[in-house]
Parts: sequence; C-alpha cells; structure tokens
Amino acid sequence: MYWSQGQVPGTMEDSAGVSVGAPLVEIRHLKSHLGETVALRGWVRNARTSKTRFVELRDGSGFVQCVVGANDADEASYELAGKLTQECSITLEGEVKAHPKTGEPEILVKKLELIGGSVDFPITPKDHGIEFLMENRTLWLRSKRQWAIIRIRHTIVKAIRDFFDGDGFTLLDAPILTPSSCEGTSNLFETDYFHEGSAFLSQSGQLYQEPGVPAFGKVYCFGPTFRAEKSKTRRHLTEFWMVEPEMAFAGLDDVMVLGERMVKFILERVLAEKQEELKILERDTAPLELALREGFAKMSYTEAVEKLKTLGSDINWGEDFGNDDETILMNAMDRPMWVHRFPKSFKAFYMEYDRENPDLAMGADLLAPEGYGEVIGGGERATSLDYLLEQIQHHGLDQKDYEWYLDVRRYGNVRHAGFGMGLERAVAWICKLPHVRETIPYPRMMGTLRP
Ligand code: 4AD
Ligand code: MG
Repeated sequence: MYWSQGQVPGTMEDSAGVSVGAPLVEIRHLKSHLGETVALRGWVRNARTSKTRFVELRDGSGFVQCVVGANDADEASYELAGKLTQECSITLEGEVKAHPKTGEPEILVKKLELIGGSVDFPITPKDHGIEFLMENRTLWLRSKRQWAIIRIRHTIVKAIRDFFDGDGFTLLDAPILTPSSCEGTSNLFETDYFHEGSAFLSQSGQLYQEPGVPAFGKVYCFGPTFRAEKSKTRRHLTEFWMVEPEMAFAGLDDVMVLGERMVKFILERVLAEKQEELKILERDTAPLELALREGFAKMSYTEAVEKLKTLGSDINWGEDFGNDDETILMNAMDRPMWVHRFPKSFKAFYMEYDRENPDLAMGADLLAPEGYGEVIGGGERATSLDYLLEQIQHHGLDQKDYEWYLDVRRYGNVRHAGFGMGLERAVAWICKLPHVRETIPYPRMMGTLRP
C-alpha cells in the first residue's frame, strides 16, 4: 500500500466506488509528480465552462486548477465537467503539467467522475454578511480563507509545544472544572457539581501550574479556558485556548525574556512553513519579519499612560487600559511591546508587588503591534503567605478554596513567575484578522452557541 511519497492509502475503488488506474496523490505533493499521470480526489471549489472546462479542485491539502479539454478527456468526462457544481466531490485522472507562466502544477484531465453531488451550496463566491457566515460555520470552513487561517493556527499550536518541550518544560495539564476562580469572580461560568456545590469552568490554568513548579521546575499547560465575557469586542471569546508556562527561581524580567523567545520562535516557524497561507490572506509579512528581527519594546504602565495622553486618550493613572487605549498605543508601535508594573488595584490577587512601590504589581502584558494589543499577560507571583492571605480576603475570595494553592508557599517557597498567551489573539495578529471569531474553528461568544 502506498502511503509515503505523496500518496494516500486506499484505491479509488474502495474510497469512491469508481475506478481510476493512476496512483492517487495529494495536491500538496503535485510538484514532485510533474509529467506523470496521477489520480486526485476532492471537492470542486469553482467550475468554469467554455469550450475548455476549468475546474478548481481542493482536497484539503491544497488547490489545483484542472483543465478539461474536448480532445484530452473522454466524452463522458468532458460532458460531466460542464455540469459540475460548487462543492460537489469528484475523482479525476490526468497529467501533471507546469503552468506555462507561473510554473505551478495544473492537471490536464483525461477522466473525471462524480462522487457526491452538491446542489445550491449556500456560500457562493459573492459577498455574504458575517451573521450568515457564522450560522454556516461548518460550511464556511471549506473556504480558502478559513483553510489558510486554521492551518496557520495549527502551525502556531505545534510551534508552541515544540518551543516548551525543547526548552525543558514539562506538560502539566490543568483541569477545566475548578472549585475556585483565578481571574476574579465577575466572568465565571458556573455549573452544579454533585453535592459539592458549584464548579466553575477554568479561566486560567495558572493556579495549577504553580504547584507544578516545586514538582517539575518548569511546567506549562495548553488548553481551553473560559470567561463569561458579556461584552462583544473583536478580541473577546467566551472559550479560548491559552498556553501558560510557569518557572521556578524566576521574576518579571524572566517572563519578558521567555515570552519574547516564544513569540519569535512562533513567528519564525509560521514564516518558514506557511507562506502559501499568508499569501491567501494577503498578509504583508514585513511587520512580522521586523518583530522577529528586532528586540521587543518595553514601557512601564506609568510611561504608557503618559504616552496615551499625548496620543489623545482620556485615561488617568490608576485605570486599566480599554481596548481603544491598546489600539491607540499599538498603532504607534512597529514591534511588540511589553507594558509592565501596573497598578495593583485592577490586577489579580496572586500578583507580586513591587518592592520599590507597593502600589504596583510585578506584572507585564505583551501588546502586539498594528493595533492588536494584549496577547500575553503574566508576571511574578506573590511569595509571602501573609500577603496572599490578605489579598485573598481583599478580593472577596474564600481562603478554604485556596489552601492547596497556599501550600506552594508553605513548603519550599521560591520566587516563581509565568504568563498566559491567548492563542486566538496571537492568530488574529499573525494573520492580521479584524476579529478573533475566525481564528478558532467553532467560536464561542456572547450570542454565538451555534453550531
Ligand atoms: O491576562 P489574562 O487574564 O491572564 C491570566 O489568565 C493569567 N492567569 C495567565 C498566567 O499568568 N498564567 O489572560 C491571558 C491571556 C490574555 O493576554 C489574552 O491573550 C487571553 O489570555 N485572553 C483572551 N483571549 C480571548 N478572549 C478572551 N475573553 C480572553 N481573555 C484573556
Ligand atoms: Mg490580561
């Protein structure tokens, strides 16, 4: 059975009920089959009929133009090519040629058969509104644009895992059902949990990474997280994926170094492997190349507020950035920027305070350029047990839910730090998308629980 060398298992007989003799290949491998006769199977993206018939075929691995001429194909195949509809599935056999101008492979079809028909595919080449596309998300996934985005997302996920695995981090999966909150209680999804009362969908795996620090030294988790965000913005999902590293004997500066190394590792991988997809998205890669080349910028929260005022924001010291503030700030930047040392007042209970100014938290956010804003949030964790007890009370949390978390401070306490990067925010920036809803196969937002 052929499986490597660009061929896929199975014969046309057992997969499609039709018989084609040539070896079956995936579109992504066509370049290494120039001059050969091959079989392909897939879906019709577009079919144009004149004397010669042109079929744009996609098979999930790529796209190829197939030319069906009256003198090259048999009569039945030529007839059929004139009747193909959008998204019907077909199998064909033909010769792989290099396009005279572009050099890209195309197929000179000899034989073509229908597998499954498709009548009135709802998403036509004309423009559709976003509501309609979201309702038809399962079909929308077949579009070239969604293909490109989801494949870039896949590469980013793989790069993240490779980065941490290669850097000596141990994967420590965090639970999704949790008894306590990590990022405040205002946006928790709550569900009944037998006689124990309520469980909450995890907002972050961080509190479960910290106990991993004395166990493994460097750990990370990467999974879905949930926030009942009641606002509709282009940056917020109610279910999103987050990667969260945590490391021993580390502080705020180490977080910024690690985050920059990880982001550059991702950019390098995407630029190396996903040029076709970036081209489909018409993504100008120059800003990504610059981010990869240059050191990330750094600014304290206090400096950022001053800068925002000069850029026209009405923010006051002590207030959190709004989405607009991040956009204004990052429209003015050509590379990612760390903003560090925020006022403690609007940050989570677990943050270490700044010894030089106890009103500040030792946290940092990485804001992406081109107006994107926060993609990473993290920092140094409070080490003092007394301080944490005070913070738990101050934030209205119940100490008994956090005893296991406090044990990290009771037994072999060390300075430690980490961060969380929202996968969809990173995908949105790298693909330069106007909204996070296209960065995840099945987005969840307020008002969107279908399909
Ligand atoms: O800044 P956040 O809330 O930080 C934490 O959850 C920390 N416990 C992480 C840690 O230190 N281990 O969230 C981290 C990141 C944000 O920077 C953003 O990229 C993403 O998660 N994020 C969201 N992405 C999409 N939709 C939302 N509603 C998001 N909320 C946060
Ligand atoms: Mg944050």
